Formats: sequence, structure tokens, C-alpha cells
Amino acid sequence: MVETYTHDVIVVGGGAAGLRAAIAAVESDPQISVAMVSKVYPMRSHTVSAEGGAAAVAREDDTLEMHAYDTVKGSDFLADQHTVEYFVEEAPKELTRLEHWGCPWSRNDDGSVATRAFGGMTTKRTWYATDKVGFHMLHSLFQHSMRFERIVRYDENFVTQLVIDDGAVRGVAAIDMRTGEMRLFRGRAVVLATGGAGKCFPFTTNGNIKTGDGMALAYRAGVGLKDMEFVQYHPTGLPGTGILITEATRGEGGYLRNADGERFLVERDYGVGQKAELGPRDMISRAIIQEIEAGRGIKGRYGEFVHLDLTHLGEDKIDSRLPFVRELGRTYVGVDPVREPLPIRPVVHYMMGGVDTDIDGATSIPGLYAAGECASVSINGANRLGSNSLTECLVFGARAGANAVRHAAGSAEGDEARARQQVEDEGARIESLRGRKKGGERIAAIRHEMQSSMESGCGVYREQGPADETCRTLAQLKGRYADLGLDDESKVFNTELIAALELGNMLEIAEAVAVAAAKRQESRGGHARRDFATRDDESFLFHQVVHRDAAGPRLERKDVRITRWQPEERKY
Ligand code: FUM
Repeated sequence: MVETYTHDVIVVGGGAAGLRAAIAAVESDPQISVAMVSKVYPMRSHTVSAEGGAAAVAREDDTLEMHAYDTVKGSDFLADQHTVEYFVEEAPKELTRLEHWGCPWSRNDDGSVATRAFGGMTTKRTWYATDKVGFHMLHSLFQHSMRFERIVRYDENFVTQLVIDDGAVRGVAAIDMRTGEMRLFRGRAVVLATGGAGKCFPFTTNGNIKTGDGMALAYRAGVGLKDMEFVQYHPTGLPGTGILITEATRGEGGYLRNADGERFLVERDYGVGQKAELGPRDMISRAIIQEIEAGRGIKGRYGEFVHLDLTHLGEDKIDSRLPFVRELGRTYVGVDPVREPLPIRPVVHYMMGGVDTDIDGATSIPGLYAAGECASVSINGANRLGSNSLTECLVFGARAGANAVRHAAGSAEGDEARARQQVEDEGARIESLRGRKKGGERIAAIRHEMQSSMESGCGVYREQGPADETCRTLAQLKGRYADLGLDDESKVFNTELIAALELGNMLEIAEAVAVAAAKRQESRGGHARRDFATRDDESFLFHQVVHRDAAGPRLERKDVRITRWQPEERKY
């Protein structure tokens, strides 16, 4: 018997976007009740690992127009400019609100909010709380959410399917991971806020939980995934682990050096101009790869790297502004950045693409919304600027939550028996996987092949041949996935079963990325093609939306909304 829980709005995911959506929902209507369904306890959401900061205009030398322009230029002119304009307007309000909810933003001596420089931004506009920004933001949101009894949390419930009936979303099917039983969460609107899918790649800053679950839920239900080819490599990941070394290190004055000790971003023309280490992520990641390819990398146990040099900043500054970086360096690579440079190399960090939504967070399915990294509301286009994403989670989490309430108010609950039937069918599908020993394929082998194939076909640099090869490999891996063998028959915290379901999600998302990357025959933002080295606005100034058809992924074009800034050459 499927347990059923009924609320007005179901939020899937308990990170920054999910919490903000839930709070906005209950604040916008005193009667509304929200289920927050997440596969982890909220404080274990990936938001917690964000380090460097959140962007919003705060200083007198800054304007909303400058923030919008930087974001549009950073996106390589693929962002939808009306969403960017809304984003920059709401950003300061959201960060101030978060302070009222307890977020301890670092301050200047005069008591005003301190801001630091970040890549691609023309002035200091990144608010921070030392270098543990995600931790503090998530705490503030979580604690504020606990003021509302009408936000009911269902932690450690893994959503496996959207319940769709009569063309609208009616809730979700989930496994209660503690018991292994299926649950139906009925709601008149659903907000997906499950984060990105960095685990499709072998070397990533993303935690193990970032397996593209929300994107896959929407994709299977018929919603398109937009701008999936744009995967962000962050320039500074720790070799071996992929742990993020925040861009705040460069914001605070750190240098990148090659094996010869040169500041290569200053010595050679990598398009970042005077900005040097404060150029945008896509350009700096490419510069590092080019330095390594030119023989100026440093050889290490986990491949070649370059150095991030903070030694000139001094111990006081590092301890007050970047204490976590010092801790990470000492703990994970045995390097104290006060005395020695840190080894770093580009690492998969963020998906610019995601569930295709409009500015309200609405998808093509009535009642279904998405926000945060799992969505593509289209402020990031082909390359996100560092520190825009935490703010995006707040601005568009709030908007999606409030709009979900509006939708719920005007719509019916849907038929309960039919919803239950869908969850029972989903439960039977999952039951057929649990402890199914007969299959010959292993989760780890398929995951490993998927990840290496994504790195070779959809890495920092791409080319037609390898991208096509990745598409073929992924199609084969999806076939092999059908023959998966699982050992664990237990129901209680069956992590093997969850890993199998997550792998199914990642294969869908990886394929969408690869198919879109193979088709875009130009270079733009995070999508750099060796065989089509320049941006081609004439042929490619559009979003690609991937749809899941029976015959395989199908690509559609969608116009880019340009309001004020015509595309121009992107140089710094
Ligand atoms: O480098 C960082 O602290 C990352 C920030 C971001 O991705 O926005």
C-alpha cells in the first residue's frame, strides 16, 4: 500500500533554491502547506560546499546596469536579457533579506557589507562570509524555514518520478530511503530544485549527490533541457580530489603561475586582458589547458597542473579572508598556501544548462516549476560568472515558489486513484531492480565509462569526432544499463539501489549534454570547439533544447531574448 501525503506545493530538493522556494511559498499565502522532499537532510545539500560568495550590487561605484552587462557578456551573449535584468534588480534585496534571516556577511571597517572581486565582474560585488558562504547561507535559510510549521520536511526521500495526469503535474513518487517503501506526495504544483549533474564527469567539485535527478525527472516527463552543452570548468580544483579552491583566492589577489613561475595570464594573450586572474572561468580554464599542452605544466601524481600562488598575500589576509582554503590545502594536498603555491587544474563545477523554464520558473508542464542549478532560466547562457549562482538560487527560488502557489490556488488536485496507480507502477519498476542478481552489468563500470567518455568528448575543448564518439558510447551504456545486476535485496537504506537510480538519471543527462555539444559547431563560452574556434552568431545565436523522444534525443532551437545589449566581441 502506497503511503500518501497531500500538500499544496511539493518542493523537491532542500538546498538554497528549494528552501527559498518553500519559504516564498508559505510567505505568499498563509494557508498554503509545502512538502519539502529531499534525498538528503537539507544541511547536506550541495549548497553547503559553496565557498567564495554571492553577487549583488552593493557599492557606490556599481550599478544594476553594470551587473547586468557583466552577466550578459560573461554568458557570451546567450543569456536571456530580460531574466538578467530581473535578476540583478532582485539580487541586493535577496542578500539583504538573507542577512535579516541570520547570514553573517563579512563587513568593512565602517560596518557596511564587504564585497570582493570575482572573475568577469567590473567591480567588487561579491558578498561573502569568509570563504564558507554556502555553509552560512544554507544555515540561515534552513533555520528560517523552521519557523514555518507549514513547511513539512521529508528528508531522505528519493523522488523517482513526476506524477502527471490530464497533462498537469499532480505530485511525485518517492522512495522512503529508511524503509524502502514507495510514497505518493500529492500536490497541485511541484518545484524542482535538485541542483546540477557534475557527477556525470570524473573530476568535479560536485558532491556525490549531484546526479541530475530533477533534470532527469522533467526530461522523462517531456520537458526540454536547455543549453546543456555548456558545462563550466572552474579553473582551480585540487588535483586528486576535485575539491574547489575558491575563485575568492584570485579575488583577494592570488596569481596563477606555470612551471616556469610565469604569470601566464599576464605574459600571453588569453583574451582576459588586464583582468588577468580575474578573467572569466571559461577563458582561464582554457589558458591552463593551453599552458599544460605547451609543456609548461607541472607533473604530478594525478596529471599535470599549474600553481595558484597566494604566498604574497600574507598569513593575516589568508587567515581572515580565506581560512577554509588554508585548511583544504593543508589537509588534502599537504600544502600550506601561506608558504607554498597550491597545485590546481580545471575541474567540472557547474551546469549552465538545465530544465527549460521561463522567467517565472515555469516549465512546459502546467504546475511544474524549476529553480537553481537544475533549471535553465537563462541568466547564465554559455558561461556563468562566479558568485551569480547562489544569488540565482535565491532570486529564482523565491519566484518559482511564489508562482507555484499562484498556480496551485487556481487548479484542481487531480484524481487520487490514478496518481496512486502511477506510484504503484513505479514501485514495481524499482522492485524489479532491487537485488536483481541476474544482470551482468555493474553500476561502477558503467559510471566509470560514462565519466571518462564525458571527459573525452565534452571536456574543456571539444571536437566533432570525440563528441560523436561520446554520443555513441552513451547510447551503448544506456543499453547496458538495462542489464544491470544488483546484489543488495534489503529495503532499509539500500544505497546500491539508489546508486542505480542515480546512474539512470546521469546517463540521460550526459547524453543530453553530448548530443547538444556535438551539434553546436561554434565556440561560445564554456563550449570551446577546436574545429570551430570562433563564435558564430549568424548560425548559432540560439538556445538548444533537448527533448527525449522514443528514437533518442531531439534538438529544438529557441530564440535568445535580447533587450539592451547586442552581441559584440567578448574580450576583456
Ligand atoms: O570559486 C567559488 O567560490 C565558486 C563560486 C561560484 O561558483 O559561484
